[in-house]
Amino acid sequence: MPLQPDFESGNTDVFLPRRPRRLRQNPQIRALAAETRLHPADFILPVFAADGIGEKREISSMPGVYQHTTDSLKTLCHEALEAGVTCVDVFGVPLDEDKDATGSVAWAEDGVLNRTLAALREEFGNDLVIMADTCLDEFTDHGHCGVVRTDRWGRDVVDNDATLPLYVKMAVAQADAGAHIVSPSGMMDGQVGVIREALDAAGHQDVAIMAYSAKYASKFFGPFRDAVGSSLKGDRRTYQQDPANIRESLLETQLDIDEGADFVMVKPAMPYLDVLAKVAEMSPVPVAAYQVSGEYAMMVAAGQNGWIDFEETMMEALTSIKRAGADQIFTYYAIEASKRLRGEGGDRG
Ligand code: PBG
Repeated sequence: MPLQPDFESGNTDVFLPRRPRRLRQNPQIRALAAETRLHPADFILPVFAADGIGEKREISSMPGVYQHTTDSLKTLCHEALEAGVTCVDVFGVPLDEDKDATGSVAWAEDGVLNRTLAALREEFGNDLVIMADTCLDEFTDHGHCGVVRTDRWGRDVVDNDATLPLYVKMAVAQADAGAHIVSPSGMMDGQVGVIREALDAAGHQDVAIMAYSAKYASKFFGPFRDAVGSSLKGDRRTYQQDPANIRESLLETQLDIDEGADFVMVKPAMPYLDVLAKVAEMSPVPVAAYQVSGEYAMMVAAGQNGWIDFEETMMEALTSIKRAGADQIFTYYAIEASKRLRGEGGDRG
């Protein structure tokens, strides 16, 4: 075979020792050569438990995602397990009138989140891994993730050290209620260490910590604030990370590992795949990534407009997150993605 095409004879074949297309010829050979495989067990489904609603309520900026009653949440969790999703991350949505300056309903045994955790643990035992969001923003009347204090210059600041004991109370209450994993997401310095110590002191050595290690002050959280009826005015830039930084993420991750994190997390996922890849390289513990509300909402909306194929785009995004290094992926699409992986459809209307 000639090395160069012989256009005169009409033979355009060239000799190429390497032809990467050989491994792309058909679905079977592509599956054989695939370097990354999604599996239902990769996924963690974030869910919203709302107080004072009679039936589940769709979140307007997150079509297909609902605020749940305890009953509708149990139904959803059964559906998740049937699809092969074995972990849910529970967020609480309290009544507005229960919010206060410290978010005290967060550690009340009869607060919506702890009540829901207990109900799920009773229903599912150890069949479902129950994770609790450990942060105050849903429960405070100002919407910040911690205690707000006025400094000497009259400026409102979120007080790191005054917030830590509240996270401790919240984490212990969640473990008492039956959570298998607590997940401090407030980005206060030292939060993982104080929670680990308190869990152990309370006899909860087996309760794990999913640390939100590299969590950015991201506009991609927009729809989530709708989902939890957030009271926040302003932003979280004094405690969540600056999107400009990556080295800082490695420090945050190292600190969480040193303080006893069982998992570390990067959040959001798709705009921060470079961060995820670096964290995955250095972490000796499993690395999760959170495909956040804005990532989900953008894809749903583009799909609804007929601009992209939502389901296929979503699977591509999830594959990219895993390829970048995620061991676990938080996604609102967990059930449908698992059904698709199992060949059971799972498309949304
Ligand atoms: C804070 C928290 C947030 C999200 C998860 N935990 C919001 C925030 O930090 O403002 C965002 C999740 C998402 O956007 O899907 N408790």
